[in-house]
Amino acid sequence: MYNVRKVTEDLYWVGVNDKRIDLFENIFPIPRGVSYNSYLLMDEKTVLFDTVDWSYARELIDNIQSVLKGRELDYVVVNHMEPDHGASLEAILELFPNVKIVSTEKSFMIMRQFGFDIEGKEIEVKEGDSMSFGKHNIAFVEAPMIHWPEVMVSFDTTNGVLFSADAFGTFGSLDGKLFNDEVNFDRDWIDDARRYYTNIVGKYGPFVQALLAKASTLDIKMIAPLHGPVWRSDIPYFIDKYDKWSKYEPEEEAVMIAYASMYGNTEKAAQALASKLCDAGMTNVVMYDVSRTDVSQLISETFRVSHVVLASVTYNLGIYPKMHNYLMDLKALDVRNRTFALIENGSWAPQAGDLMEEFLDQEVKLMDILNERMLVTSALKEANEHEMDAIAEGILDDMQKRREAIEKFGK
Ligand code: FEO
Repeated sequence: MYNVRKVTEDLYWVGVNDKRIDLFENIFPIPRGVSYNSYLLMDEKTVLFDTVDWSYARELIDNIQSVLKGRELDYVVVNHMEPDHGASLEAILELFPNVKIVSTEKSFMIMRQFGFDIEGKEIEVKEGDSMSFGKHNIAFVEAPMIHWPEVMVSFDTTNGVLFSADAFGTFGSLDGKLFNDEVNFDRDWIDDARRYYTNIVGKYGPFVQALLAKASTLDIKMIAPLHGPVWRSDIPYFIDKYDKWSKYEPEEEAVMIAYASMYGNTEKAAQALASKLCDAGMTNVVMYDVSRTDVSQLISETFRVSHVVLASVTYNLGIYPKMHNYLMDLKALDVRNRTFALIENGSWAPQAGDLMEEFLDQEVKLMDILNERMLVTSALKEANEHEMDAIAEGILDDMQKRREAIEKFGK
């Protein structure tokens, strides 16, 4: 038995769905699993585009053999050598000893580092090179840092299929539905796609912009990524998301309130602010308890929204550790161009407000911080109302300013 789907007349998806993995890269929770996509082109020559995680090598081989129907595998194109795609190459080399590997110089270096015996099998390609496999001509386009330095994407100039490596991928297993038009992507997938992009590739925005510039010169009819659905319609929708994310532009005028609360008092302040914003008509507000929300979700939402409120208790004279972890991730992923407002709480020697402001000022690029700030001493009181009103107004005023800037300067 096998599990394959036809992508075009002579291209097959021979990938796998991993629903048993809890943590992608052993760090990101993926309750909906993930697919490792691999594609097999049946031309005069047979060509496999990337492989899958080692744990699914057997399933990949079954899928490939069911399509080959006794033919040899002539080539493997390795667009990305991270083990979730490259590990099963070893099994392919054992099964098809005459197969040739088409990839970049850096990719071959990484294969050797992983201990693969590739001697005599390498066909090294670089930007601008192309190969014909019969009817299909494949052009190779370097895509460094999307998301490793060795990455390339492959473009089939015959039918417009772009094998995009990690770009345009998403968390989530396919469960049969291979194409974007077989799912409601904007309803059911975009949050996972954003969380995937922002946490995996988010740091490398300028490299993504470079790839988008190259992609704009290609007549792309279909995008075949290494994770998630294949795009055969509505491609500008997803390219627009990538453009915004990689330019660190907010997707929506929205507020995320991220709060760190030990006994519920800071949470109460966060709730009260959310109500004030909604009272004022800004209902695109989300709240996250940093202790109960994976930091990858906080990062993803930061890419989506325009405004972030940090509400933190002071802990050991510092920022609450879970909040600090989120801030460190903001820095690591080079997130920028958001407006922050601060709420701090302390029963004695409150420090969190100053420390969060210092972090945003000195450690993270191009962030605005509203002057309005609120201090809660242990619990929310009547006297806090004025400060809270000021924060809500500050956020709404800043949204207006952003709107005017977009009208004037286009961003
Ligand atoms: Fe899906 Fe960078 O590997």
